[in-house]
Formats: sequence, C-alpha cells, structure tokens
Amino acid sequence: MTGPEDVVCERLVDDADLAGVLEVEAESFNNPWTRQMYEVELARPDVCHVYVVRLPGCRVAGFCAFWRIVDEAHINNVAIRPALRGRGLGGRLLAHALLEATRVGAPAATLEVRRSNVGAIRFYERFGFREQGVRRQYYTDPVEDALILWRREA
Ligand SMILES: CC(C)(COP(=O)(O)OP(=O)(O)OC[C@H]1O[C@@H](n2cnc3c(N)ncnc32)[C@H](O)[C@@H]1OP(=O)(O)O)[C@@H](O)C(=O)NCCC(=O)NCCS
Repeated sequence: MTGPEDVVCERLVDDADLAGVLEVEAESFNNPWTRQMYEVELARPDVCHVYVVRLPGCRVAGFCAFWRIVDEAHINNVAIRPALRGRGLGGRLLAHALLEATRVGAPAATLEVRRSNVGAIRFYERFGFREQGVRRQYYTDPVEDALILWRREA
C-alpha cells in the first residue's frame, strides 16, 4: 500500500528525472515535448520550473512544468502515468507546484486545456481555476479549441 507519506513532490534534479518526464510525456500526449525542448527549457531555471511526483519504486510518477513570468505561473504541462491516475497524485503535485509558484512570487496561475479534456478541466476547477477565454483551433492532432483557465487567488 502507498500512503500519503510515501508521496514526494520536488523539483526535477537530474537526467534520470528528465528521462522519467519524457516517458510520462510519451504515455500522455499526442504531441509530446522532446528531450531537446526540455533541455532548452531547463537551461533557464529562473523561468522554467519542473516538478516531479515520486512514489516508492517509481522515480517519476508524473510531472508539472510551469514558466514563471513576473507574477504569473504559466502551467505548460501536468501529467501522471496512466496506470497511476485517479488516486490523488495529480492533486498532490499541482498543489505543490502552485505553492512553489506563490513562494517564488507568482501567485496567479494560468493554463490552456483541450475543450474535450473534461477530466483535466474538472481537476483544475477543483483548484479554483476558471475559464477566462478560448483560443480557437489552438491544438493540432486533432485540431481543437483551447480553453484558457486562470486561478487568481493566492
Ligand atoms: C489530469 C491529470 C494530471 C490528473 O491527475 P490524477 O492523479 O489523475 O488526478 P487526481 O487523482 O489527483 O484527481 C483529482 C480530481 O481531478 C478530477 N479528475 C481527474 N481525472 C479525471 C477524469 N479522467 N475524469 C473526471 N475527473 C477527473 C476528479 O475531480 C478528481 O477528484 P476525485 O478524486 O474526487 O474524483 C491526469 O488525469 C493526467 O495525467 N491526464 C492526462 C494528461 C492531461 O490531460 N493533462 C492535462 C493537460 S492540460
């Protein structure tokens, strides 16, 4: 059994963590970010913050990446390994990332999500994210609108 005390959220530290993030990307998204894209991101640790969630025996169960842009956190990606979804890990990780964003001076948070991704939209709404706009046909493969969500309370 995995208890809440076994779950650890922390900033990505090394290449083994990056390898884990790339696996979760590949398992979760049609257009996963590549190693090269992450290497560019990780060269800017003041802007790019990547957090991983760990379990005993699973170095990277999921990850959350955001850019800190002045006082805003722009969340680029959140994903949990498919076999580990629905047991609270995404919630633990997002709560941790939002706290860290506030700690570094970015209490407002925003993200884009596919209109059809009702599970993720519900997930974000539980954290106080609310729809504030739409980017028409923002996504490809398949083409789809993005909802723009914001969470302004700290
Ligand atoms: C979205 C995601 C990160 C949530 O992580 P998770 O570990 O499954 O989430 P949690 O177990 O912490 O769930 C918290 C709440 O989110 C909601 N939720 C999460 N996934 C859901 C789903 N597929 N359907 C409906 N509600 C869902 C539920 O309200 C849940 O609350 P509950 O425990 O009362 O049911 C995960 O489902 C995922 O990796 N999805 C694929 C990648 C993705 O779409 N990322 C978002 C891109 S913008």
